[in-house]
Amino acid sequence: MTTAASTKQRILTGDTPTGPLHLGHWVGSVKRRVELQETSDCYFIIANLHAFTTRADQAREIRRDCLEIVRDYLAMGIDPDRSTIFLQTEVPAIAELTYLFAMLVPFNRVMRNPTLKDEIRDRGMGDHYSFGFPLYAVGQTADILTFRAHAVPVGEDQVPHIELTREVARRFNQYYCGVSDQAPDSDHVSLGGVFPIPVADVGTVSRLVGTDGRLKMSKSLNNAIFIKDSPKEVKKKIGRIFTGRQSPTDPGDAGNALFQYVDTFIEDPARVAELRDRYTRGDNIGDGHIKQEIAQSVNALLEPMRERRAVYEGDDDAIMDILRAGSIKANEAAEETLDLARRAAHLKFFDRELKLT
Ligand code: TRP
Repeated sequence: MTTAASTKQRILTGDTPTGPLHLGHWVGSVKRRVELQETSDCYFIIANLHAFTTRADQAREIRRDCLEIVRDYLAMGIDPDRSTIFLQTEVPAIAELTYLFAMLVPFNRVMRNPTLKDEIRDRGMGDHYSFGFPLYAVGQTADILTFRAHAVPVGEDQVPHIELTREVARRFNQYYCGVSDQAPDSDHVSLGGVFPIPVADVGTVSRLVGTDGRLKMSKSLNNAIFIKDSPKEVKKKIGRIFTGRQSPTDPGDAGNALFQYVDTFIEDPARVAELRDRYTRGDNIGDGHIKQEIAQSVNALLEPMRERRAVYEGDDDAIMDILRAGSIKANEAAEETLDLARRAAHLKFFDRELKLT
């Protein structure tokens, strides 16, 4: 049994290179990944092909963003000696399985995916999106299943994709591995299925609101605080968080955007409770003061990250070495899965060996 070789849980997650990573990535996913490195066999995918779904005309920028994301990973504490960081397009098994998996999901099922629908709406894509755009949801199932991951640490908005992944895995195991459609998810592999049915591991802060105080933090919405922002930029951006509160004696709503930042970034629970109490009572505490405290905490969090990032600034060779080593290791796992999947689906004709140099 090759699958029993590692007793560690395998996890896979990653990011589409849309630009530098921000605090939303940290609280929603990367913080959890850094913890999981201790206990799990971690794979982190740079989903560069997914970036082409909306930016096919910006190939050069996408390549640059891939390297920037790796810098951000390293800054935040992902350790390439323990985790596998790799490029989606360097692992051909993913594209091959995407095509096959696309046959296992009804087209309308993909189009009902609420995350896709939100993206189409929020980005104003109307009906102009490419054929490849909805296909990325199927592609994401392949990102995960190619590594036969048990768990996928993600933010809330990614849960529909994991749900789709679970459906694809079940159907594959049923069609090609003789697993009954009554089988409990946890038994699929012991019953002969190629794919474990993965679970979504949603972080505690699954959706950090942006500095506009309204929408999810996102580069494209211009409301993001980046990991590489300077202390001054951080202060300026936090100063912009809009609450609509007028005076330090107005009773404030501690459910607002500002307080999500208080809850998320101020470490001392006693101080958080005190701020909450004074804010709701309007006990002479201004938004400006709270923003200063938040900025201090955020800068304290980011400082060691800035230092780690500085080591790799301008050194593309070091980043390429990490990606090469990660992609070689990823292909080992991916080719093993592909071989099992091809055998199961009667697609195994010849042997092949893949080589990155
Ligand atoms: N779609 C994810 C995002 O935009 C990135 C991603 C691609 C991903 N493939 C994945 C996340 C596989 C988890 C697992 O954030």
